[in-house]
Amino acid sequence: MSQPVTNGRIYSRIAGTGSYLPDKVLTNDDLCRIVETSDEWIQTRTGIRERHMAAEGQTSGDLGYRAALRAMEAAGVTAADLDMIVVGTTTPDIVFPSTSCLIQARLGAEGCMAMDVNAACSGFIYALTVADKFIRSGDARTALVIGTETLTRITDWTDRTTCVLFGDGAGAVVLKADSQAGILSTHLHADGSKKELLWNPVGVSAGFKPHQTNNGSRILMKGGEVFKYAVKALDAVVDEALNANQLDKHDLDWLVPHQANLRIIEATAKRLDMSMDQVVVTVDRHGNTSSASVPMALDEAVRDGRIQRGQLLLLEAFGGGFTWGSVLIRY
Ligand code: COA
Repeated sequence: MSQPVTNGRIYSRIAGTGSYLPDKVLTNDDLCRIVETSDEWIQTRTGIRERHMAAEGQTSGDLGYRAALRAMEAAGVTAADLDMIVVGTTTPDIVFPSTSCLIQARLGAEGCMAMDVNAACSGFIYALTVADKFIRSGDARTALVIGTETLTRITDWTDRTTCVLFGDGAGAVVLKADSQAGILSTHLHADGSKKELLWNPVGVSAGFKPHQTNNGSRILMKGGEVFKYAVKALDAVVDEALNANQLDKHDLDWLVPHQANLRIIEATAKRLDMSMDQVVVTVDRHGNTSSASVPMALDEAVRDGRIQRGQLLLLEAFGGGFTWGSVLIRY
């Protein structure tokens, strides 16, 4: 293990993690009753066995609030301690106020800054980066970072190429200022020119059709092309993180990847010469929960004791936009 970085500067450290999954489980067999598909096809192509689905009326804010309470309890902080709340989500409760403001009010954290970041499946990586920068600059000492989604609300249940992929959930971390790093590096990227390979074309100032019952809001994806871009971008971003920190891939203890497809995760693990025992995998039980997938995976591996203090973790994600990025952490 390399020595902790302590050079008089401020860093952010993860003080606590939390997550929340809605009760309802949708199995592959359940999906076979909705579209023409099979458990075998879904498992072979994606690694997914089941996913959770928010109850009627349960919002991204509800899920995020519950994950936040667990992260705050684990970190030993109260709402009064929070200087900022950053929420990664692509399924906000309403157009505004932001989901972060709605969660702030429920937590009773009045006064601290609150913002949403929409970077699709990279939302948590982007949100964590924003919070890390605020802490490093000295403008915040304690930050709550949440990834929360209710993707089943924007799933087209008639499209078998997408409806088998997505699920709902939320994960959260509390970051605290510390003289030891903590978050060693963050790298973010985007390429807006590929928007039509993975998007939801319905919004507010473009494409809103109020006469349609559900606005036609739905995820559209050219899966095969997205797959190729994702593998390439993730290869590049993990190399970038290691090079920026002058680390070798064998220094890593854990890969905590975005959970879109087991085959994509395996490709990144292969690039890093990591055994799948060093990779936190939840896609089999959660499906793709976009911004929520990385913090939920992180929380699971922290709580079951796999991830230990002092270990080196590489978090990464790729999603609609395209957006992609990494966060390297000395946990
Ligand atoms: N059940 C059964 N058959 C299905 C199916 C389903 N749910 N969905 C698609 N198929 C069929 C297709 O119609 C196609 O049939 P055809 O060959 O007769 O035309 C065949 O299966 C292969 O489809 P294809 O899209 O080439 O499969 P794939 O191996 O690329 O897997 C994905 C599809 C979506 C699982 C995969 O492309 C993927 O995971 N893409 C990236 C997802 C991602 O990373 N998202 C972004 C990050 S958030």
